[in-house]
Amino acid sequence: MVALRINGQSREVDVPPDTPLLFILRDVLGLTATKLGCSLEQCGACTVMIDGEACRSRRSLQVA
Ligand code: FES
Repeated sequence: MVALRINGQSREVDVPPDTPLLFILRDVLGLTATKLGCSLEQCGACTVMIDGEACRSRRSLQVA
């Protein structure tokens, strides 16, 4: 179980801990505004704000 706070709401999702945040947002929570682009951390399509910093959500939370 992974606990997140997204857009001011606490959420818990049952995913493996190495699941990329992008897939949690899109596939588990249905938040599809964030897109998958290059998968190489170069295009910025998967960018989200985490604690005020722009981060690539294609990475798993374990390395974010
Ligand atoms: S998919 Fe291109 S930077 Fe994330």
